[in-house]
Parts: sequence; C-alpha cells; structure tokens
Amino acid sequence: MGYDSSSSSSRSRVFLLLWMAAVVALPFYLPTVVHARKVSLQRQSLAVKKHLKRLNKPSIKMIQSPDGDIIDCVHISHQPAFDHPFLKNHTIQMRPTYHPDGVYDLNREKNPGSGSGSGSTPTQMWHLSGRCPEDTIPIRRTKKEDVLRASSFRRYGKKKQNVIPEPRSAEPDLINQSGHQHAIAYVEGGKYYGAKATINVWDPKIQQSNEFSLSQLWVLGGSFGQDLNSIEAGWQVSPDLYGDNNTRLFTYWTSDAYQATGCYNLLCSGFIQINNDIAMGASIFPISGFHNSQYDINILVWKDPKEGNWWMQFGNDYVLGYWPSFLFSYLADSASMIEWGGEVVNSEPDGEHTSTQMGSGHFPEEGFGKASYFRNIQVVDESNNLKSPKGIGTFTEQSNCYDVQSGSNGDWGSYFYYGGPGKNSKCP
Ligand SMILES: *[C@@H]1O[C@H](CO)[C@@H](O)[C@H](O)[C@H]1NC(C)=O
Ligand SMILES: *[C@@H]1O[C@H](CO)[C@@H](O)[C@H](O)[C@H]1NC(C)=O
Ligand SMILES: *[C@@H]1O[C@H](CO)[C@@H](O)[C@H](O)[C@H]1NC(C)=O
Repeated sequence: MGYDSSSSSSRSRVFLLLWMAAVVALPFYLPTVVHARKVSLQRQSLAVKKHLKRLNKPSIKMIQSPDGDIIDCVHISHQPAFDHPFLKNHTIQMRPTYHPDGVYDLNREKNPGSGSGSGSTPTQMWHLSGRCPEDTIPIRRTKKEDVLRASSFRRYGKKKQNVIPEPRSAEPDLINQSGHQHAIAYVEGGKYYGAKATINVWDPKIQQSNEFSLSQLWVLGGSFGQDLNSIEAGWQVSPDLYGDNNTRLFTYWTSDAYQATGCYNLLCSGFIQINNDIAMGASIFPISGFHNSQYDINILVWKDPKEGNWWMQFGNDYVLGYWPSFLFSYLADSASMIEWGGEVVNSEPDGEHTSTQMGSGHFPEEGFGKASYFRNIQVVDESNNLKSPKGIGTFTEQSNCYDVQSGSNGDWGSYFYYGGPGKNSKCP
C-alpha cells in the first residue's frame, strides 16, 4: 500500500510538475505557433509577390481599361519571352519572312490598323482608354487576386494537370478529357503548316467559375499521351483565369501534352510579341448579339518556312508575334492535325450536366445571327499556300448538349455552325 500510494503520489507529482511546466511554457509556446504561421503566410505572400514580379514587367505606360484590366506597355525587349534561357541572345524577328495570305504586305513598316474596310472588325476594349507607344507591347497585368484564385499560384495560366487525357482509339484522335466537351471540325493525315478561320465572337454564360467556354483553332503534332505539341488561339470566357465573364482573345501552347511546358497568353516565356496594338488575354470588343449585329475575328497561325517559327495574326492587320520553333518537337517540323471549334468544361455541378454555354449557347441548326460559326476555314499546305481543307470531319461527345454542322459555299468556303446550351431536356 505504502509503496503504491507513494508511487502514485510521486506519479501525480510528476504530472503536476509537467502540467505546471506546460502552463509556464504555454505563453512562450503559443506565440511560436502563431509566429510560425505568420512566417509561413509572409513567405507565401513574398512568393506571390516574386511570382507577380516575374510575370509583370516594368511598364513604360499604364492603361486602365473600362473592363477593369490594367494594360502595361512594356518595352519589347523586356517581355516575358526573354526570361527563357534559350532566348537570352535572341534577335527579335520584326516581321515574318513569309506570309501565306497574298493580300498581306510584308514590307509595310507599320500595320495601319483595321484596313479591311469592313468597319465592323472587333478589336479590344482597352483601346477606348489609350494605346501603347512604338517599341512596346501591351501586356494584361496579372493581379494578386488572379494568382490567388489558382489552386497553386505557380500553376496560374497553365492548364489543370488532372485533365491529362488517355489517348482514345476512336476517331478523331481527340482527348476525351474528363468533363471537357467539344464540338469541332478537324482534318488529319497530312502535313500542315498553318490554319486560318473567321470566328464570330459571343459571350457564353458560364455556370460555375471553375468551368470555361472557348472557341479556337488547334495546331497539333505528336500524340495525345505524353508529348502532344499544341498551339491554340481563339476567344474564351474563363472566370478562374481572368476573374470575370468577359470574352477574351487568348493563345495557348504546350510541347508535352499540357504537363510542364506552356501556358496561356504571355504567362510564361515562349511567345515573342512584336505588336503594340493587341494584348493577349484582353477583352474583345464589340461582340455579337442574338438576332443582332454579328462580329467576327480572323485568326491565322502559320509556320515561317525559312526561320521555322510559328506566327500568329489577329484580324487582317495585326501580326502579333511568334512561337520560336525550338519550343516544340513535332511542330518544329509540321502539324499532323488541325482542329477548329468549341470546348467547355462540364464539371457536372449538382450532379447534372452544366448549363455552361458553347458559342452563342444556341444549336447549329438555328443558323446565322443566332448560332456561332467558323467560316472560311483553311489550312496551310505543304507548298505553304492557304487552301480549303479536304476531308473535314466533325466530332462532338454529346450532340444533345453541344453540336456541330459543317457545310461549304462560295462565300464562306468551308464553314460550320457549332455550340449549344449544355443542360436542356435532352441533355440532363
Ligand atoms: C549569349 O552571348 C554571350 C556573348 O556573346 C555568350 O557568352 C553566351 O554563351 C550566349 N548565350 C546563349 C544562350 O547563347
Ligand atoms: C459570371 O456569370 C455568372 C452567371 O453566368 C455569375 O454567377 C457570376 O457572378 C459572374 N462572375 C463574375 C466575376 O462576374
Ligand atoms: C467521353 O466521356 C464521357 C464520360 O466522361 C462518355 O459518356 C462519352 O461516351 C465519352 N465519349 C467518347 C466519344 O468516348
């Protein structure tokens, strides 16, 4: 008994001592925890600042766009491309050595803006507030909120890794990315050196901020597994990427099936911009209305046969710049597939199909003024000429949700209507 009681009392004494030690130490320990959290938050905020500093280059002039964007006019030699180790000594090509469109004058000093004479070609909203001077390029400023919206700020501007697709056996060799839905036209089986289209511009409704809706062309090489090379350009609505529902001009590139390389717009080093009129990722203005004026944009992507770089043109007059050939493996030679059309993310909110719209949100059969279209779709062939493509296929995962209908005529060449509302009685 004596033994037990003394042992138990010595045990309680030890507990008491420990408890007292804990009480005495707590005021010292707690602040350490708080301090550690504060340090980790400070570290993250410092990392975000550093990341933003890497993305946002020193600006010569700042333009506040009516849509809330800030456009920085950055000296052409300070653009993000030149962070790339392979571009340290790069001499900027101020014009392509070749243009597949006979109409374009390679030798004019400065593109005269919208010289097409149509008068209804949309450009960009920030033009309402000013222009960038010569020798600068306009860059949409990335804000702290933009990177904080991304699951990891280092992945801001990249495509989500979890959409890396299984290659499919069925034609077309399209990614059936989980939750991604397409309504597209495509050609494959040849060697392609570019693609062109005229696309009308809309503002599809997005049901949830983690979804997007885009209309673009794809210039593709390699296979959809590990090593896909892709250059993409068009318009998109993406609340996660931009923080709003505006329709924006965008580009995307990857050389490893959306894994480590590539990004949207100028959000990583790669694309070299030469143009001071058009900002990647900035809002397009004006856009088409249902039963109302239709506004369309031209997108042309082509490979310079001499330098090997892939160039991009917006509208009839704005040669934006180029992706250097060395960024790519397959596309360093040529593309093996071209696609045109729409893509949305269906994250199945509430376990049902998303009501995120593609294109105008209306089905192809509704036709002009209501449905969205790609017209005068063309490829650049092996002799570097723009041609109407032969053997166009179409593809959509669920035609009751989003559909595509192709045709051809004298005015519009090869064209297709595409899009849809997503969720409806036939697409539950
Ligand atoms: C850039 O040029 C410098 C000086 O000519 C040279 O030392 C360096 O190796 C070059 N760097 C690259 C990546 O070509
Ligand atoms: C975008 O539109 C959706 C409805 O389509 C709306 O719920 C959301 O608040 C909008 N987001 C922003 C940032 O305006
Ligand atoms: C794509 O995936 C969806 C489900 O994720 C499936 O219902 C559909 O059949 C697939 N489409 C093709 C063409 O494989």
